[in-house]
Amino acid sequence: MPTTASPVPRHVAVIMDGNGRWAKERGLPRREGHRAGADSVREVLEGCTELKVEFLTLYAFSSENWKRPKAEVKALMVLLERFLKDKTPELIEKNVRLQAIGRLNDLPAAAVNQLHRSIEATADNSGLTLILALSYGGREEIIDGVKSVLRNVQEGHLDPAMLDPDVFGKHLYTRYYPDPDLLIRTSGEMRLSNFLLWQVSYAEIYVTKKYWPDFRKADLREAVADYGKRQRRFGAV
Ligand code: FPP
Repeated sequence: MPTTASPVPRHVAVIMDGNGRWAKERGLPRREGHRAGADSVREVLEGCTELKVEFLTLYAFSSENWKRPKAEVKALMVLLERFLKDKTPELIEKNVRLQAIGRLNDLPAAAVNQLHRSIEATADNSGLTLILALSYGGREEIIDGVKSVLRNVQEGHLDPAMLDPDVFGKHLYTRYYPDPDLLIRTSGEMRLSNFLLWQVSYAEIYVTKKYWPDFRKADLREAVADYGKRQRRFGAV
């Protein structure tokens, strides 16, 4: 369910786009754009902690990203594994709890093992919850949710007559988190790109032309200030 309107969003979700273009403009390989993008992740994590945002979901690797050249996919997976390995002590120190959503078992063993280690190591933290969307697709999540509902109906745990948006939401990867209040997309594209399709129904959308590697704390603060000026009616008058 959407959360109540407040000047600071409880949950911020980000489509981190433009790493490739950022690198291309500098004559660098695309992986350098992703590496620079990892620095923006650190910035936004700090910014969210300072603003007292409770949940931050980052679209780090989509179901469709598997179609990229093998070398780029490999570079992204190695970057993810290193990022988690290097940053876990910092996440612990900053009281950040790491979580992940998506078809995580599709990730290479080294990445998924490190992911589980980092999730475990930060499980008791009570500050910001950082949710990485990995091998994630909104349609795939809804299909997995429908399968879970059908299983529960078949096993007699769920009466189909009881199915409503709240009940269905309990069968999604995001069942432990409130819906995003603010969705940020970088690099100027006006698309959802299969990200949190169910959950962003009432999210405020903020698009900036900046490429993700150029996105800094000040840009986050600007997005949050813009959000604070919006009137959220959730379909009412
Ligand atoms: C989109 O830019 C970005 C991605 C597909 C990957 C996002 C990954 C990171 C920011 C790396 C680090 C993340 C973590 C959590 C360590 P694009 O490549 O589609 O850019 P383009 O549209 O300009 O080609």
